[in-house]
Amino acid sequence: EKITLSVIKADVGGLCGHTLAPDELLDTCEYVLEEAIDELLIDYYVTRCGDDIDLIMTHKLGTDNENIHGLAWKAFEEATEVAKELKLYGAGQDLLAEGFTGNVKGMGPGCAEMEFVERPSEPVIVFCCDKTDPTAFNMPFYKIFADPFHTAGLVYDNSMTGGFKFDVLDMYGNKQITLKTPEESYSLLALIGNLEKYAVKRVFRAKDNEIAAIASSEKLNLMAGKYVGKDDPVAIVRAQSGMPAVGEVLEAFATPHLVPGWMRGCHWGPLMPVGEDDARPSRFDGPPRIMALGFQLSEGRLVGPNDLFADISFNNARQKALDMADMIRSMGPFQPHRLPESMMEYSSIPQIMEALKDRFVDTEKVKKLEKTRERGDME
Ligand code: 13P
Ligand code: 13P
Ligand code: MG
Ligand code: MG
Ligand code: MG
Repeated sequence: EKITLSVIKADVGGLCGHTLAPDELLDTCEYVLEEAIDELLIDYYVTRCGDDIDLIMTHKLGTDNENIHGLAWKAFEEATEVAKELKLYGAGQDLLAEGFTGNVKGMGPGCAEMEFVERPSEPVIVFCCDKTDPTAFNMPFYKIFADPFHTAGLVYDNSMTGGFKFDVLDMYGNKQITLKTPEESYSLLALIGNLEKYAVKRVFRAKDNEIAAIASSEKLNLMAGKYVGKDDPVAIVRAQSGMPAVGEVLEAFATPHLVPGWMRGCHWGPLMPVGEDDARPSRFDGPPRIMALGFQLSEGRLVGPNDLFADISFNNARQKALDMADMIRSMGPFQPHRLPESMMEYSSIPQIMEALKDRFVDTEKVKKLEKTRERGDME
């Protein structure tokens, strides 16, 4: 019998600004999910990463289930009521639809779900982020599932030597492509190295098409048509027994990489791995954070979590991320701290450009003007 692991997240208000979803909101969500135990859910765990609330739920209803999505929506709606009462910043920020209509996708919340037959032992890692977007997982997923210098199991474990398949999403074209590693690694990198356009959505083990990883890939701004905050993704990765080991999965975050997000969603910044207690981004609204919660599933029950990035072995990664933050912050509003134009589409930059557009003068014209001025000076 199959189990479904659903992680659905939303930002419905921060204390203060965009820094933290307070306990009052988590308690409200927990109350709503608790009511659904036995009826809909097998188990749940509610947490936060910065101003984003993450609902981690297990059940037997499959992915994209209307009742599960409706339950998450209800939890976020009730938390929004509390957020409004407390006048939290951005109350209801990610709930873009007026009411729930069957599936949270396209309505604002982010969602990563997978359905599988629970293995005799089923270690899963749930990643929760703040101040970044779904492309934050492009490089880590490549390292974890396709780089033998990273994941030793790709070399030593014969259930992985057949490689993995990557579903890659064209975020603006509503298109998807599947590429298989190791054969198509270079083509895969050609796509997913471009964070302006492509996001890894899912990873499967090639030999049996067993689901290995999934990331949320909602583009909030495309839905809202304007800047309403970053997408702050979540992801699920299965580990061990024919999948990368827990430590091989986590290793992808030991050398921080730069991701889009941070202040106003307009800057590159280092993705800093943190434990649950340190997921309170504040400096320049960041730097971007990622949490890793390890669970063992037992007939769908969520045993855990083990707060994996709380381990001191990630201290150097955190220090490195902070140093990278200092370095790139010194660029201020200049690229490459600032995102390229295409990724600023939903900031107010387009309006600023629009206002300036008539003041641009053709450079040929400028040259002529300068010449007449020179002649004038000679006469
Ligand atoms: P243990 O001996 O601690 O179980 O470790 C096994 C292992 O493979 C670690 O990567
Ligand atoms: P959030 O997406 O986390 O709300 O961030 C919005 C923002 O603009 C931070 O500076
Ligand atoms: Mg926010
Ligand atoms: Mg957020
Ligand atoms: Mg956000």
